Parts: sequence; C-alpha cells; structure tokens
Amino acid sequence: MKYRDTLKINEQGHLAIGGADCVALAEKYGTPLYVMDEEHIRTVCRGYKKLLDTRYANSRILYASKAFAALAVYGIVHSEGLGADVVSGGELYTALKGGMPAEEIYFHGNNKSRDELEFAVKENVHAVVVDSYYEIETLSEIASKLGKTQKALVRVNPGIDAHTHRFIQTTRTDSKFGFSIADGSALATIKKVCATKNLRFIGLHCHIGSQIFEQKPFELAVEKMTDFISALNKENISVEELDLGGGYGVTYTDDDKPLEPHQYVSIIIDKLDECLKHKKIAPPKLILEPGRSIVGEAGITLYTVGAIKEIKDMKKYIAVDGGMFENPRFALYQSKYAAVLANRAAEKATEKVTVAGKCCESGDILIEDIMLPKAKSGDLLAVFTTGAYNYSMASNYNRNPVPPVVLVNNGESDYIVKPQSYEDIISRDAIPPRLGANK
Ligand SMILES: Cc1ncc(COP(=O)(O)O)c(C=O)c1O
Repeated sequence: MKYRDTLKINEQGHLAIGGADCVALAEKYGTPLYVMDEEHIRTVCRGYKKLLDTRYANSRILYASKAFAALAVYGIVHSEGLGADVVSGGELYTALKGGMPAEEIYFHGNNKSRDELEFAVKENVHAVVVDSYYEIETLSEIASKLGKTQKALVRVNPGIDAHTHRFIQTTRTDSKFGFSIADGSALATIKKVCATKNLRFIGLHCHIGSQIFEQKPFELAVEKMTDFISALNKENISVEELDLGGGYGVTYTDDDKPLEPHQYVSIIIDKLDECLKHKKIAPPKLILEPGRSIVGEAGITLYTVGAIKEIKDMKKYIAVDGGMFENPRFALYQSKYAAVLANRAAEKATEKVTVAGKCCESGDILIEDIMLPKAKSGDLLAVFTTGAYNYSMASNYNRNPVPPVVLVNNGESDYIVKPQSYEDIISRDAIPPRLGANK
C-alpha cells in the first residue's frame, strides 16, 4: 500500500492516519467508520492550485462534489482556493451551506429537474452545464421568469474510449452524457443556446471518464476540444471557458500505477498550450474538476471482523460489520481494494480471504481474494482509498445505518458526519391513517 506521512504503521504496530491510531479511533467512534485525512486533502488541492497558478493562471479548479459531499469538505477545499461542481439540488444545497460561494459553483447533470434549475438560477451559480434540449428550454423559462441571464456551458462528447470500467466511461459514442461533436449535435445545441433568450453561452465541457491512468485520453480530449473550438470560432462563436472535467486515477491496490495528481494537470496544460498556439485560438479559461484524486486516498474505512467462515478447499470469508450499504463499489463495478488488519498492521499477510459485508446479497463483497494475517473475530480491518464514491454512494440498504465520518489531522479527530441511529432511519417513514396505528 502507498503509505505516507499521514498514513503509516505506528510504534504499536497499529495503522495510524492523520496522527490518530486507528485502534483508538475504533474504540472512540465504533465501526464501521469512515476516516478522512484532512492534511492529505489539503496537500492534493495545493498541488493542483500551485501548478495551475504558475502554468495557466486563467483557470479554476472545481472539486467534484459527487466524490464526497458533506458540509466540512467544502470549507476545506474552498480555503485551498477551489470551487465546486455539483450534480443535484442536494449537492448544491450542501455546497452552499458548507460555505462555497455560488459564483464558484457549476451545476452539472444529464436530467436536472425544473426545481433544481430554479434553485441554481435563484442562487446565482456561476454556470449551468446544459445537457439536453429540454433543459435549454426549461432554463430559459426560469431565467426569463426571474429576470436573469444564466451563463451556460454545453456538455459535449468528444468520443474518447478511455480505458476504465464501462460504467465510469462517459464519452463513448453511446454515452448518455453530452452532445456528440462527430455527428454535429454539439454544434447544433450550442447554436440553440446562443439563440435562446436569457441564456449566455460561455463555453464547453467534457469529462472523459474516471479512474484513468493513461495520459493519451486526456491529450486526445484536448485535441478534439480545441479542434471544436476552432470550428466554433469559424461560426463566430467564442469560447470563454473550457472545462475538461476530472477523471485522474488513484491507487486502490499495488497493481494501480496512476500518475501523481498534478502530473495529469501538467499533461493537459502542455497539450493545451501546444494546441492553442498551433490552432491560433485565444486561450480560454481552463476549468478542471477532480474529485476522486482529491478525497479518494484521503479516506479509509475501519471495520470489525465478525463471522469467519471457511468453505473447505474453496474459500475463506471474513465478514465485517459494513458492506454494500456503505461501499457499493465492488457490487457496482467489481472494484478492487487493499486492506490491512489495523490492530496488527505490521504482521505478515499469510492467508487469502474474501472480505464479505453483512447485507443479504451474495454480491455483497468488499474485497475478493486478499492476503491478510490470519484474522480473528474482533480484529480491526482497515480498507484503503475509500474517501471517494463510498460515503457519497451509501444507502440504508437492509436498514443499516450509514456510518459516521470522522476527520483527522495532527492526532485530532472530529465528526464531520454524525452517526445515524435506528430512530433516524425510521424518522421519515409514515403510516397513512387508513392503515391504522401499528402495534
Ligand atoms: C462531470 C464530471 N466532472 C468531474 C467528475 C469527477 O471525476 P473524478 O472523481 O474521476 O475526478 C465526474 C465524475 O464522474 C463527472 O461526471
């Protein structure tokens, strides 16, 4: 595993994160528990910001909220100079309440509701990234009603086949996202936005997928997007902002070899500089939207090992007190993870096990075939790189409470998401009077 200053094995042989001993964290907060390393989040944000400030100052980095949205995270990323992208009314609400200024928020989504659009326009978000004709009409009606002109980017599909899981590729030709450049629908849509009252076209957006390791897809995206800017310029349409999305890979297991986060940005800027010069395009404002690379490796999840079951000559399961309700990524895309026994982190891994969750689904697996020291019930399992798309994808499946999230830094720990009680779980249930009161 990729250990670092703020994620290491301490003198007691325990895993420590943000200066806090994981055994002590589990004792204090219980398990399952999401733990986020504040310093790591800040370090990654600073790396992006420094690089852009020196190499492409006319730029903005947006934290992609979908990776992990909670009030505290917006305060952290904003204090490091980042804005945010949101994809729902709920994310927008959280971002605003978390202190993210509306003018630094971009609103995405392939099917935003009228209510969500109205909320965004009323709050004066910087831009709405439009992704359907239905949305263009609705947005125009809302902006007219409110007497405003809403800035809009158009999400385009440059048609790039990034090598990542099919469900997190977003610019295959048959993707539900964006308007294709190749078939002319992107151009037609942009002309439509330009001609629609109370909307102002300001730029282009694309996002080619997530957890991408190679540099080529990003270079190709820059090529295709700048070709398209040239084509738009020929139609007298100028592009003030070019938003290239996120997608930079992180380390889940030792097999993953991502670049350092800022290296992806460097590659994009190199290519962009070259293309702008070569194609004689006025440099647009560059927008980037990393999510996973900011919070992914910052997070770990702590579990207590419970039942251990061996199927002779086949498989050994160790079951933990979490599962697909707090991390559905194996069930969704067979995601791989690394883990250690946090209370015995320095011990040698000697047996192959499968880590199962506690949900009533055969597919409720967290890690298939991982080498660990021989685990006992009561051991503490730490799964790495769970900061992105874990808490944000959690549910109450099987009526399991969503685990709390604790933020650690310099040995201090605090809730940033409090624990859910059973009472919380039933708090929004309602029994219609015609059913009578349940006994
Ligand atoms: C539009 C958009 N921007 C940014 C992101 C963030 O991607 P990542 O978390 O891989 O950096 C996503 C994720 O799917 C996205 O859909």
